Amino acid sequence: MILGIETSCDETAAAVVRDDGRVLSSVVSSQADLHARFGGVVPEIASRRHLELVSPVVRDALSAADTPLDEIERIAVTQGPGLVGALLVGISAAKALAWARGVPLVPVDHLEGHVASLYLEPAPVEPPFTCLLASGGHTLLLAVHERGVSERLGTTLDDAAGEAFDKGARLLGLGYPGGAAIDRLAQEGDANAFDFPVARVPDLDFSFSGLKTALLYAVRDLGPVDTEARRADLAASYQRAIVRALVQRLHEAAEATGLVRLAVVGGVAANSELRAALPDAAFAPLELCTDNAAMVASCSRYVEPLPYPRYRDLDAYASIR
Ligand code: KG4
Ligand code: ZN
Repeated sequence: MILGIETSCDETAAAVVRDDGRVLSSVVSSQADLHARFGGVVPEIASRRHLELVSPVVRDALSAADTPLDEIERIAVTQGPGLVGALLVGISAAKALAWARGVPLVPVDHLEGHVASLYLEPAPVEPPFTCLLASGGHTLLLAVHERGVSERLGTTLDDAAGEAFDKGARLLGLGYPGGAAIDRLAQEGDANAFDFPVARVPDLDFSFSGLKTALLYAVRDLGPVDTEARRADLAASYQRAIVRALVQRLHEAAEATGLVRLAVVGGVAANSELRAALPDAAFAPLELCTDNAAMVASCSRYVEPLPYPRYRDLDAYASIR
């Protein structure tokens, strides 16, 4: 029985997952509303909110799973990458719980965690596959050889795909985070109305920063009245450009690796156009695409646990490694 804890960004999450991959509970408390008026996550505010929420969220996860703390055999926690102050709240809570219960602690890489969202019941996806990880903070292509063993093929040179969605949403006045709002609005728009090209960069990398500038210019040229009238067309065309870039690179990556099975994880995997554009790919279930602790607990099954007291010095890391 594993208790997972995730606090890398603006979601405070805890989950109870069995070693066989069955999710007994997954509680996610989003702080998005708190950060919305700033147009993005404010690290210091995130840390403080995690501090208030982490104990109640853990308690909720245990009670929803009908599992008392003394039945937990392992504590899994996101170690990085993410906001260091936010990560430290989860890590401190995990250390305290592990220490108090005398159980091992398992540090989990957030990105590997997203991949491990595919290994949960009731429909686990088995490697090998070529995986696209697209979230608010990262865009990666991975060759996943077996559970817990992956190789990086490409990444973004500037903005992440989710970040591109969020910045586009901001330009269109859709609030933060904006990926889901663009997704909804795009369904009423014409994706061919505007030509938003995505920069081609060498190898299997991505670049999304030019796209955001193209949208900025389009909005400026239209002016406020026409922008308002054509918001759905702008959203649809913008989304189409991001999805095209992701799909194209994923196919190229699969060709390069020879791992023809495709999988998509991370917040952007919730996008309906991306899901429709890759009918044969495996997607994490919708509720496990955005940040959650079930994926962290899942991932911990493929990481060496740290027995007490070896986790006392465990520290967070901010950047991808
Ligand atoms: O994985 P995640 O929860 O957090 C990170 O690790 O970054 O991903 C959040 C990102 C945000 O940028 C959000 O706008 C995007 O996922 N997102 C979407 C959709 N739902 C969430 N992007 C496009 N379409 C969606 N339906
Ligand atoms: Zn994430």
